[in-house]
Amino acid sequence: MQDIVRRLDTCRVCGRDDWLEVTSFGSVPLANGFLDPADLPAEEPAYPVDVIVCRGCRLMAVRHVIRPDVLFRHYVYVTSESDQMTGHMRRIVGWCTRRAALAPGELVVELGSNIGLQLGLFQEQGQRVVGVDPAENLAAIANARGVRTLPEFFGGDQGRRIHAEQGEAKLVLGRQCFAHIDDVHNVLDGATAVLAPDGLVAIEVPYLLDLLEENQFDTIYHEHLSYYSVTTLGHLFQRHGLRIVDVERAAVHGGSIVVFAAREGSDHPTRPSVGQLLSLERQRGLDTDAAYLEFAERAHQVITEIGDLVRDLAARGLTVAGYGAPSKGTTLLQFCGLGPAEVRFCSDTTSLKHGRLLPGTRIPCCSPEQARAQEPDYYLLLAWNYAEEIIGKERDFLSRGGRFIIPIPQPRVVTAEPVPAVA
Ligand code: TMP
Ligand code: ZN
Repeated sequence: MQDIVRRLDTCRVCGRDDWLEVTSFGSVPLANGFLDPADLPAEEPAYPVDVIVCRGCRLMAVRHVIRPDVLFRHYVYVTSESDQMTGHMRRIVGWCTRRAALAPGELVVELGSNIGLQLGLFQEQGQRVVGVDPAENLAAIANARGVRTLPEFFGGDQGRRIHAEQGEAKLVLGRQCFAHIDDVHNVLDGATAVLAPDGLVAIEVPYLLDLLEENQFDTIYHEHLSYYSVTTLGHLFQRHGLRIVDVERAAVHGGSIVVFAAREGSDHPTRPSVGQLLSLERQRGLDTDAAYLEFAERAHQVITEIGDLVRDLAARGLTVAGYGAPSKGTTLLQFCGLGPAEVRFCSDTTSLKHGRLLPGTRIPCCSPEQARAQEPDYYLLLAWNYAEEIIGKERDFLSRGGRFIIPIPQPRVVTAEPVPAVA
């Protein structure tokens, strides 16, 4: 059997082995490794979260790569049906339809298609769709919803097979899964095998610049193998005869980019957004070591501040619970050294997580209904990327005197009191 973890020695994008060692956040269990309280292991396997940056192409990565089938064959992350995410998925359809001039009957292939919500929207406007997702539990849900989904890892073979069976794709889409992929060259090989000559590849990833500038250290965990800038994606696509023609920034997942790439020789013009973001990245020093080392320093400081704040509240007899139990939340709690003594429970809308314990910290996860029966004084907003939506729908909690702690970029407390206007 293959080892569960391998060390990344050469860069998965450019092949060099000249790494800047940025920092280590210690060893923690897998962020999505929720535990069944009836079947608790004595010890959970833990793996280091060590952050490195390639000095060749500036890919940021975690050093320890967990075998993909361990992470992704059974997956508890289900695409959110929050207002924010639904709105975003509709915008994606608009962006892609316009740029790829998508007509009814044309083929859209999505990798990491989860339960098929995004593809369902393309299907509604008449496109033929094929999803590919290694999570057998999620692919089954997508198929039951009528979105054709192969329960496989996407790669060269899958791209060629879909091409042979369905013809060429006008759009190959990968939303928020690209950062999870180790062998990116095999995936782009599959994408180019099925792509029409005038088709587009659209890849959505959390934006490295936002991660660094907003101190989003909790988005760094084993599932997220790579943290991309436009610069690095440009290097990567170039190796596959693809050229970035446009980039959209989107507020989802704390700040993401959707990068559109076309075949080198195609007629798609390169839009100004590409050059603008490449300059911005240079201007913010993403090509220097300092940007990453300074981020690491800030991250460790924020980790200490969050831990101190929550421990202080608990010591004063105030109750704290987590709002949401996303992977970044289980990560934040681990990095901050917070457990059930300080954070009594986490409420989350995902039913697969209810009645389970968070990995590592073993904080119980419950439904929002159960949480309402044991409301804490403070909610630590672990799903901070939905801050506006969540605080909006929890106004009653605030008016009862409840408070939210928003952990990043720096921990701050939100109360029902309106923020005084700046004179
Ligand atoms: P995501 O940031 O990866 O989409 O995960 C969001 C998590 O937050 C997911 O586990 C669901 C949870 N959540 C809630 O519990 N309540 C909410 O109101 C929202 C928007 C998300
Ligand atoms: Zn590299």
